[in-house]
Amino acid sequence: MNRRQFLSLGALALARPAAGQAPGGRLRVAPVRQSLAGPAHPATDVWAYNGTVPGPALRYRQGERLRLEVENALGAETTVHWHGVRLPNAMDGVPHVTQAPIAARGGRFTYEFDLPDAGTFWYHPHLGNPEQVSRGLYGALVVEEREPPEVARDLVWVLSDWELDREARLDEEFLNPMAASHDGRIGNTVTLNGVVPESFAVRAGERLRLRLVNASSARIYALTFEGHAPMVIAYDGHPVAPQPAARVVLGPGMRADLMLDCAAQPGSRHRVIDSFYRRNAYELLRLEYRDETPLRRSFPPLRMLRTNPVARPDLARALRHRVVFGGGAMGAVPSQGEHKGMFWTVNGKPIREHDHHAPLLELKSRQSYLLELVNDTAWHHPIHLHGHAFRVLPGERWGDTVLLEPKSRAEIAFVADNPGDWMLHCHVLEHQASGMMAMVRVI
Ligand code: C2O
Ligand code: CU
Repeated sequence: MNRRQFLSLGALALARPAAGQAPGGRLRVAPVRQSLAGPAHPATDVWAYNGTVPGPALRYRQGERLRLEVENALGAETTVHWHGVRLPNAMDGVPHVTQAPIAARGGRFTYEFDLPDAGTFWYHPHLGNPEQVSRGLYGALVVEEREPPEVARDLVWVLSDWELDREARLDEEFLNPMAASHDGRIGNTVTLNGVVPESFAVRAGERLRLRLVNASSARIYALTFEGHAPMVIAYDGHPVAPQPAARVVLGPGMRADLMLDCAAQPGSRHRVIDSFYRRNAYELLRLEYRDETPLRRSFPPLRMLRTNPVARPDLARALRHRVVFGGGAMGAVPSQGEHKGMFWTVNGKPIREHDHHAPLLELKSRQSYLLELVNDTAWHHPIHLHGHAFRVLPGERWGDTVLLEPKSRAEIAFVADNPGDWMLHCHVLEHQASGMMAMVRVI
């Protein structure tokens, strides 16, 4: 059974509405069973925050303080990393670097920090093996603008990817060397908000804000909304001048906020296609217009969201560093001895996640930096820096994760204004776990 057949068997309307605040300021991490592929298939054993995959979509207002007690009911240690949030180092959730792991069977840890930036962020564990994310531990963290743009609905779409067998059981080899040394573990089943989607009901005249989060360990998405002209208003939470997005490309860890004006005819249907792997393009879902009179015939113009209070790097005075990502299948890492199971390198060295290791770079606090990121491999790598937002040069796009094409380079610039030890790594989690990881120290 290929993925398409698998998909077409699962029939479910989707998209639970965003769940709002975690009740009682608590996130409980525990195993649960959840139906991923629809009623025609058995439920799957997954791990979840507060009993659902994805975990609750946490919603705050810009400037508010998040305070959540995490209770670990798993039989394994965990942590929670708040991807993209510029927070104090001790709250970053990197085990053995910023905190001790939260103990199995009852360990607790309270995360508490301010939310300086509005935007779409997400949370997930940060352990050495991709297992915990692949089992379903992730959720969206939405920080609303003080004056949010007017929309009919503000929706979170968390995309994830599973390797399931015919009984919808999860393949438990989470760090297969073949996958880790190639493009990572690309599964056979894609879910949207924890369900294989079939159709999504809309009403003509609605303006939707879609907050897309790629929570997959390795799958990259390229979404096309047939018959529609979505506009991107933010990447990785940070506003951009509204721009048409004929094909929205999202590597693991990345987010995009889209404005989707539902301007088609009542009763019509339109496919949303994911064509990143061109030979394996498939229909993610269908937009189905209800047969109701349109709410409106024309839509007001979009304005750019107010930018976040991120310091602008001074490009003329920025100090430069070159960071080279290498390795992969047939790459240069010796496969024996100390480096067994390591396939990838950063500036020539593979780093096993969360080993105690010397920083790759020491950055001076408040200094501007320009990092040249060189992908010297034949694979895609979404490179993520913790604790900061960076500019992706040239242009006005900000982000915390940048997708490097095979054999390509990118430049990012930022002010090192957040002291501490921050991870810089590939967000293909199988790559991260097999060497493509480094630490940057801001002092
Ligand atoms: Cu989304 Cu270092 O992680
Ligand atoms: Cu990678």
